[in-house]
Amino acid sequence: MPRQLFVTTALPYANGKFHIGHIMEYIQADIWVRHQRMSGNAVDFVCADDAHGAPIMIAAEKAGKTPQQFVADIAAGRKPYLDGFHIAFDNWHSTDAPENHALAQQIYRDLRDNPQGSLIETRTIEQFFDPEKNMFLPDRFIKGECPRCHAKDQYGDNCEVCGAVYAPTDLIAPYSALSGAKPVLRSSEHFFFKLSDPRCVAFLQRWTQDGRLQPEVANKVREWFSVRKNADGSTSEGLGDWDISRDAPYFGIEIPDAPGKYFYVWLDAPIGYLASLKNLLERRGQDYEAYMADPALEQYHFIGKDIVTFHTLFWPATLHFSGRKTPDNIFVHGFLTVNNGEKMSKSRGTGLDPLKYLSLGMNPEWLRYYLAAKLNGRNEDVDFNADDFMARVNSDLIGKFVNIASRAAGFVHKHFDGRLAGLTDDDEHARLLVQVRTSSEQLQKRYEERNTLQAVMEVMRLADLVNGYWNEQQPWGLPKKASAEPGAAATHLRTLHQVSSATLEAFRVLTVYLTPILPALSKQVEAFLMAPCSHWSDAHQPLGEGHAIAPYQHLMQRVDAKQLEALFEPPAATAPA
Ligand code: 2FM
Ligand code: ZN
Repeated sequence: MPRQLFVTTALPYANGKFHIGHIMEYIQADIWVRHQRMSGNAVDFVCADDAHGAPIMIAAEKAGKTPQQFVADIAAGRKPYLDGFHIAFDNWHSTDAPENHALAQQIYRDLRDNPQGSLIETRTIEQFFDPEKNMFLPDRFIKGECPRCHAKDQYGDNCEVCGAVYAPTDLIAPYSALSGAKPVLRSSEHFFFKLSDPRCVAFLQRWTQDGRLQPEVANKVREWFSVRKNADGSTSEGLGDWDISRDAPYFGIEIPDAPGKYFYVWLDAPIGYLASLKNLLERRGQDYEAYMADPALEQYHFIGKDIVTFHTLFWPATLHFSGRKTPDNIFVHGFLTVNNGEKMSKSRGTGLDPLKYLSLGMNPEWLRYYLAAKLNGRNEDVDFNADDFMARVNSDLIGKFVNIASRAAGFVHKHFDGRLAGLTDDDEHARLLVQVRTSSEQLQKRYEERNTLQAVMEVMRLADLVNGYWNEQQPWGLPKKASAEPGAAATHLRTLHQVSSATLEAFRVLTVYLTPILPALSKQVEAFLMAPCSHWSDAHQPLGEGHAIAPYQHLMQRVDAKQLEALFEPPAATAPA
């Protein structure tokens, strides 16, 4: 039975362009989604801009735009990245869209009015307020002197000099990073999600420890049930309640029946997954409620390791206690570092700018292949290393895999009118194909586990096998032999035909195996071999005797060292005005 899957990546904040970390996550998810579709499963793959919150509101003001205009301008720049790297979301939406406002408000009402007892509570808390800007200040907009090492201009939650963790109220001589004014303490009523409620704790312990999460993620989450770090560095027992409200002015969604109160951005952000899906379904004329009510529906979120708390505690609790379906799993990846873990920094030129990569004419599938070869489905960091990148693309992807096709295609056109030979079941040529086809199931399993590192390794092992077969058969010597030995010419030519045909067929099967990673190359190979590579079952459908192929056209360029040099060249310093 085909499965029905709803898949998302984390919603990027709408305050900046994509960086290479976003692209890595999207590529990882896109590969998984393509694998699912190749298996015959139905997938709805969506994302959106995470539009709300104080930082975006403040950035918009600085840019002299309304927050709506500001996020719309960011959204308008997304397409070249997504198209450029073959990331095929079915929908790109915004958390500020009407669907999200309505859904977030309904989910909140459902939590508040839970028939077994409300999960929402109000409490009065004290917070720093900027008397000039007339607004409560988020921690990162309060600065001052570190209470421990006395370094100046430190943020409200931790000191970047000595590493101390504290509350904003511990800062010496605090000031507003927005206006410079001295903040004053003001009290305000806030809304809390009662995560400490025993129902919630019991549910989350079950949900996070039932084996669905990656083991390293489940272990980390388990710690949060016993101890939790407070803003001032002290620790408390168990899950704390979650402050889900912010006071006006705030760019966000209004809390029902609470004038001047808005949802904290992290309450409505993941609801944006549902809003994006709803928008997609409704545009297609499908019913959102019916879709979500299907008990067989599977829901998956790809995220980075920095937002695990939100996705393994707050999000499943929000869904469960508002009477909704919870995710089947959360797939967590590590961070991407560039060139041996140097911290990405634009000014030092060590960052990898995705648009610059494309504008240099670098093939997006090189990056897809390289990242796939590094990602193993675990929550581990990945390093992009320029030398390693060039070696893997040029020696493995092109040297071992792509070149197989050019070697064999010439003979088929020159001697056999562009048509393939039939292979008998038990000759050595057919045996090569049996070996190559045997890996199909194992490869599907690797993709399912997001262990593309192992999938790529297996395909490269098979490519070595095919190249070994080719070298052993030495088909390039056969035309000469055929001319030299007229009596044996037919046999030599028959062997040449079989070796070239088996090699091209093996190449097609390997292409099927790499299709989730290299969708554009796969399309080119389909056109060249005039045969499908886009379904897992295509690996098992042999091309018959006499199958015609198109003339070979170059499939992929090698990486040029100059391109990598240009990619990592620091941007020229801008001349002073
Ligand atoms: O960390 C971030 O970039 C957030 N904008 C991710 C949100 S994911 C989801 F919850 F919307
Ligand atoms: Zn300090």
